[in-house]
Amino acid sequence: MSTTLPMPHRLMARHQPRRLRRRPSMRSLLRETQLQASDFLLPIFLVDGEGIREAISSMPGVYRHSIDSCLKLCGEAVARRIPGVLLFGVVPAQCKDAAGSASWASDGLVQRATRAIRERYPDLLVIADACFCEYTDHGHCGVLAADGDRDDPATLENLQRQALSYAEAGVDVIAPSGMVDGMVLAIREVLDAARYERVAILSYAVKYASAFYGPFRDAADSAPSFGDRRAYQMDPANRREAFRELALDLEEGADMVMVKPAMPYLDILRDLRERCDFPVLAYQVSGEYSMLRAAADAGVLELERSVLESLLAIKRAGADAIISYFAIEVVDWLD
Ligand code: PBG
Repeated sequence: MSTTLPMPHRLMARHQPRRLRRRPSMRSLLRETQLQASDFLLPIFLVDGEGIREAISSMPGVYRHSIDSCLKLCGEAVARRIPGVLLFGVVPAQCKDAAGSASWASDGLVQRATRAIRERYPDLLVIADACFCEYTDHGHCGVLAADGDRDDPATLENLQRQALSYAEAGVDVIAPSGMVDGMVLAIREVLDAARYERVAILSYAVKYASAFYGPFRDAADSAPSFGDRRAYQMDPANRREAFRELALDLEEGADMVMVKPAMPYLDILRDLRERCDFPVLAYQVSGEYSMLRAAADAGVLELERSVLESLLAIKRAGADAIISYFAIEVVDWLD
């Protein structure tokens, strides 16, 4: 007995998603997420001196800049319509102490760079990372108590000094990254008391104790001399804890919140996006940068396509903006 096979067209699915994928114009018409220059913030490492553009071995393609060189880089960002920069100061060992007091000097690196950028590029947003690990001789994010644990009340006081000095220098946004409980409220209070109510706070609300910060610690010379940051940064295993961090920081007055790192935590990013109506930013951290760069340098990945895909994924997951060391290159690729 012979069976008749159905005609080939009878086997075809009625719904064919591929109909909408066949032509570039259709794909472009229906694309749900698009990257653009205004999605990005560029992190910049600052060093003292003049005419310095120093390579960072753990982050090929990223440099430490003296203020004049930083201004050139800011010019490149402005030319590409990147809305803002995130500043980190890197100071030599002799400028470090137990409290990180170089971070709140009125003529400190970030403070001077901020004034210079303000004057030259008044429309570029200046965001100052507020932390102490680049300035303390022990490399931890604040003052240490006798038992080696972080002394949070003392750290908060210094954070207020730091925030005030950044505000005086003219920053638009202060971004506390030390995971100190109460840091947002402490900063908001000192800013408001000094009538800097226009300065916004971008809280690193959900910052995991991540191995992906490795290259940054080399770039900023901020690795802890003993121990690690697990006593204040979040356990990578935890999700619900991120919601508590979010709630606390919003209650304390954060204007924007950040998830960090980005790509290994896309689920958290999506969760925060769905749970709050405040802007949610993502930080594609140094390890994410160096990983992609190294894979491309080894001929294993295509740099442009893999970087754009990683950033698209971060935006699709819910990021309103992305802090990325690739920002300048990305805008060139998008053009
Ligand atoms: C300061 C700070 C760090 C990063 C941003 N701010 C380092 C850390 O927490 O160890 C990491 C950024 C990156 O890896 O690109 N506390």
